[in-house]
Amino acid sequence: MPDDSSLGTVALGLKYARFAFRTLQTVGWRRSLANLASEIAFDLKYGTRTWLPQDLSRLETTAGSKSDGVQYQGTNPEIVRRLLAQLPADSRSAHFVDYGCGKGRGLLLGIEAGFKRLTGVEFAPQLAEQGRSNLARARRLPSVPTPAIEVMDAAEYLPPSGPLVAFLYNPFRGETLQRVVQNLTRHATPSRTPVWVIYVNPQELECFLRMGWRIAHEMAEKKVVLGVILTPPLKEPPEPPLGRMSAAGHYPL
Ligand SMILES: C[S@@+](CC[C@H](N)C(=O)[O-])C[C@H]1O[C@@H](n2cnc3c(N)ncnc32)[C@H](O)[C@@H]1O
Repeated sequence: MPDDSSLGTVALGLKYARFAFRTLQTVGWRRSLANLASEIAFDLKYGTRTWLPQDLSRLETTAGSKSDGVQYQGTNPEIVRRLLAQLPADSRSAHFVDYGCGKGRGLLLGIEAGFKRLTGVEFAPQLAEQGRSNLARARRLPSVPTPAIEVMDAAEYLPPSGPLVAFLYNPFRGETLQRVVQNLTRHATPSRTPVWVIYVNPQELECFLRMGWRIAHEMAEKKVVLGVILTPPLKEPPEPPLGRMSAAGHYPL
């Protein structure tokens, strides 16, 4: 999904039309329709409202860089289910953190997959509120302690100690992502705490690879990388200077 500045309604409409066209070009109409169907089916099944994208330009944020942030767009359920199925069974006792959780779809997919301890991090209070009400209204899911949604900049967030599944659906880029990767690296090393990163639409995969993270699983279709599972370096590499990454451009959002 493209970036947002202060766009009027017509410009916003054009932006979404361009986005839809680009998605069609990249993944083809069959895949685009399948994605749309799986997103609508998700909300119908769980009685949630996670479908509509939401511009960051029209939202208040607590802290953090809006220009690094990617607007709210719910993750594709089928892609995430297929990636989660690749994790080892013992990962289910890990804490599941959705970095940039928005309206909560990633958290709901985590609950569906069997995680019991989950946290969302979101810098837009309005989205966090929608995430909380989706968690409250969701039906037909395993009963787990309600995930907390922390309203804060993900770059400042330090995950709870112990094994971790970090879920990122292309939530932010640049320095924000770099700081998150540094925190995740410190979490995993030197104690060798198990950490799995699920990075859907990994536009800045390079940011992990430069820190020594390894691709344990890659999901691709027609040469488009839809998502990866990453595991940490065995020892903490020297920290690269903070700076802007080049966008790899795998998938429109
Ligand atoms: C592409 S959406 C992902 C939504 C959700 N994770 C999902 O999979 O359905 C990106 C989300 O990241 C949030 N975000 C962007 N920058 C952030 C930051 N610095 N700290 C916390 N959240 C951020 C946006 O507000 C948006 O809700």
